Amino acid sequence: MTTPDPLTLNSWQVIAALDELPPGLVERTILLDTPLAMTRDRDGLPVVWRRTDEETGDEIDPETIFDRLPVTTGYGFVWTSLGTPPTDLFPIPEYAEPDRVNMSCGSIGIHVSAPRAVENFLDMGHFPYVHTDILGAEPHTEVKEYDVEVSEERDEVLATRCRFFQPRAALSATDGMEVEYVYRVPHPYCSVLYKSSPEAPERRDVIAIFLQPVSEERCRAHLLQSMIDSTSTITELRRFQQTIFGQDKPILENQYPKRLPLDPRSETPIRADKSAIAYRRWLSQKGVNYGVIPVAS
Ligand SMILES: [Fe+2]
Repeated sequence: MTTPDPLTLNSWQVIAALDELPPGLVERTILLDTPLAMTRDRDGLPVVWRRTDEETGDEIDPETIFDRLPVTTGYGFVWTSLGTPPTDLFPIPEYAEPDRVNMSCGSIGIHVSAPRAVENFLDMGHFPYVHTDILGAEPHTEVKEYDVEVSEERDEVLATRCRFFQPRAALSATDGMEVEYVYRVPHPYCSVLYKSSPEAPERRDVIAIFLQPVSEERCRAHLLQSMIDSTSTITELRRFQQTIFGQDKPILENQYPKRLPLDPRSETPIRADKSAIAYRRWLSQKGVNYGVIPVAS
């Protein structure tokens, strides 16, 4: 078993949607091969600790938990760390805009590494084949030239000017449209995408994927939507996103190897993979070793 690198250990890692964590009841999960338990205290704040085999039962008085892990909440989710995390999570400023509809869209277990799931999230090339007639359709299969950089200032991968023809870009879309995407990777296991909003073309809907690295070959995908949509219900918006992700899950689980190879020579690069290449290089530079196959030195 790989001991996670210092960055991974000392980062915030997502473990649950806040609204799915009931006060006074124990939920169990696994982070970086480490069994955890969590609950919410009387003030609604999450409490997270390392789970031991003796613990049984579903009810707990949070006051009796002394050996707690660091915890924070952000974007509707609970984040913890097995090390010493930074003060703040990476920013998603749009989340605070008052007219947005923010929601978690569920937490889905996937039998693949967290970095593989990030890379799939960045890939537009699969839209017409996997999300047929929603996020893409033949003959509009071309991934047009786009820009990728690693922002030094913010320490994140940034892909801009990504354009793709989409038959149904969002629930609020009534027609096919060329959609512009911006992708950020502000955390080794998290990505945030901005896409033109059908309802307010000058603004962008935000969809984020936060991957919980359960083990090197398993993760849980926690999805956030922060939408500009004054007509759909939250249930409808959730269902739309869950449909899309339900199409990705079997594709992801068929990836081999399940860990992401960081050596650029290990899988044939094509132009559409520009953001994937930048992402892999960024992980290598940061020394991330968990859920990846590092470059042999
Ligand atoms: Fe997809």
